[in-house]
Amino acid sequence: MRRAIYPGSFDPVTNGHLDIIQRGCKLFDEIIIAVLINPEKTAFFSVEERCDILRSVLAEIDRGDCTLTVESFEGLLVQYAADRKAHAIVRGIRAISDYEYELQMALMNRRLQPGLETVFMMPAEAYSYVSSRLVKEVFHLGASIEGLVPALVEDRMRKKK
Ligand code: PNS
Repeated sequence: MRRAIYPGSFDPVTNGHLDIIQRGCKLFDEIIIAVLINPEKTAFFSVEERCDILRSVLAEIDRGDCTLTVESFEGLLVQYAADRKAHAIVRGIRAISDYEYELQMALMNRRLQPGLETVFMMPAEAYSYVSSRLVKEVFHLGASIEGLVPALVEDRMRKKK
């Protein structure tokens, strides 16, 4: 039974995140999508809303035999991963620019908990420029975000605006 944690802010979940989750489903029996509770960051959606949206969109995706769970967490990621008896952390890398930050985190997490592996996955090229930050920016400026996020996410963003 191989269990992974896919941590992040998911504010909001994008098609790039879903692509990584589906790829992860080929490697792991269970993936816990873990939404960080971060009081220091101003978010568009609350943690509860983000978890709720994730559960709705994940219900629609092809996951094979993989179990997908959505939870929120706070504090150290490695501690949370140990509590959940996870074998790996999954992170998506879109471009070289992501790599430095991701490598730093992965090495710090390894120092804190040597038994926990970080697995980097690449999304489809079509999502290589998609980030939650840019999705929010173009949405707020009135441009279409169709194809970048699930329709449900766009809908929820319009309702929240
Ligand atoms: O989607 P994000 O915002 O890039 O995700 C960042 C996340 C949640 C992976 C990172 O901020 C994190 O792990 N936070 C938990 C606190 C922690 O463990 N910090 C030390 C990381 S080396």
